[in-house]
Amino acid sequence: IRNLYLVRHGQTLYNMEGRIGGDSELTQQGLEQAEALGRHFRGFSIPYIFTSTRRRSHQTATPIYQGQDHCTVKALSEFDEINAGICEHMRYEEIKHKWPNEYRRRQKDKYHYIYPEGEGYITMKERVDKGLRKALYLSGNAEALMIVGHQAINRMILSYFLFRRTEDVPFIYIPQDQYFHIVSTQKKKLFEQVRFTG
Ligand code: F6P
Repeated sequence: IRNLYLVRHGQTLYNMEGRIGGDSELTQQGLEQAEALGRHFRGFSIPYIFTSTRRRSHQTATPIYQGQDHCTVKALSEFDEINAGICEHMRYEEIKHKWPNEYRRRQKDKYHYIYPEGEGYITMKERVDKGLRKALYLSGNAEALMIVGHQAINRMILSYFLFRRTEDVPFIYIPQDQYFHIVSTQKKKLFEQVRFTG
């Protein structure tokens, strides 16, 4: 049996402002979400946590890590959020005005759309695959591992287990007050979506 805990980072300043990408820090609410995760997972054994190289991912992982007796934390750039290229740091409304064609093209086919000078879901898949393989390799036979990822990253990871059609992947709901727990046995995969605040 193997347990994968898939967590999204807590609220950031950019999330609050509706801006995409960047490397902003957690807000007070985001820090509280991270603390709540730390309390929630104290009773669990999480020997490995994989983060992205972004501050919001690290900050979210810290209280979880601190609540564990033995835990290795490793940052993998493969789990960095989708690179929005020329649209990084912008609000969707701003993109709509500044790059209307890009906005329209993404609306039409979000999975295959690739941001100029950036990535798309379709081009991100390979590095996420690579990150997952690395995480599984590094965690060896451990019973549990956690990934503290991002909205698009977690959608991609979940899609491997949920067998979603590719066109649906960019629309999977990834809240910041819940995490996904995936249990893999030789025969089946079980899912639960767990709320940890409120
Ligand atoms: O808004 C948060 C965020 O993680 C952005 O950094 C990223 O560009 C976006 O979500 C991905 O979601 P979508 O593909 O729906 O734009």
